[in-house]
Amino acid sequence: MTQQFITGLELNKEANLKLLSLALQIKNNPMDFADALKGKSVVTLFEKPSLRTRLSFDIGINKLGGHAVYLDQQNGAMGQRESVKDFALNISTWADGIVARVMAHSTLTTLSEFSSVPVVNSLCDLYHPCQALADFLTLTEIYGDVSQLKLAYLGEGNNVTHSLMLLAASLGTDFVAVCPKGASPDAQIVKQAEAIAAQNGASVSVSDRVEAAVGSNALYADTWVSMGDNTPLELVKEKYMPYQINQKLLDMTGASSVLHCQPAHREFEITSEVMDGEKSFIIQQAENRMHAQNALLVSLLNPNFV
Ligand code: CP
Ligand code: NVA
Repeated sequence: MTQQFITGLELNKEANLKLLSLALQIKNNPMDFADALKGKSVVTLFEKPSLRTRLSFDIGINKLGGHAVYLDQQNGAMGQRESVKDFALNISTWADGIVARVMAHSTLTTLSEFSSVPVVNSLCDLYHPCQALADFLTLTEIYGDVSQLKLAYLGEGNNVTHSLMLLAASLGTDFVAVCPKGASPDAQIVKQAEAIAAQNGASVSVSDRVEAAVGSNALYADTWVSMGDNTPLELVKEKYMPYQINQKLLDMTGASSVLHCQPAHREFEITSEVMDGEKSFIIQQAENRMHAQNALLVSLLNPNFV
């Protein structure tokens, strides 16, 4: 097992499938894993706000018998009071793992370069790989074999889009990112995902037309404005409204499930009617953050346990 999980690309198809299966095992038999991280401490560093990630890691680590230590930026931002390198060197002496939510992906590469313990990306500007694991755990629960699915992401091409498309490509799920002009996902990452998808009999595409989502099994939304960008949602409303997940879009595409990584902005990227409706698996998806991350942490910190 890899010593880091910062792009998600560290895991191939087989490893991803194994991890999802372990996550289901942990979810269904939690007591079997109550000591899986006994005696282990994990530092969770956050440069950005969080509800789901912070709590699902903290509570999840606790359920595995481990100890989570939360560090935010009030004590000095990484790289300001001391360098990111020194953060990694010091934390590695006490902790068994580092989970970090950072502004720039380069902070994660520096942390993992100088850390002697595993580093996990809990969101950066380019990727949100723990989210994608939870999303595919949820799709597995709903549909079983995800290699038969088509998944459509609608909205801004961003960190969540990138991780979702890379994992879809790895698992053989057809993926389309439907984004307005000027808000497409990163071209390099799309190229990378296309190559992985081709190896797994799947497709990755990008379109600015919502018709591209027709025939999807699942629709996926994220905020139209990511953390760190202070543009008011009202200002981008006109540009993104055609991409809103609402009942009309559900009917048009024929999708049978709706996902959203949250935090959600009701009546912007998704309507309350759909978010609270019978095709929404959004709260199950949030719960699955913990189970997917626990599988990842056990695999990284105590591989002999599984
Ligand atoms: N989906 C997600 O990462 O939520 P938080 O920002 O609340 O952690
Ligand atoms: N794209 C969003 C995801 C939040 C979980 C952001 O980066 O803010």
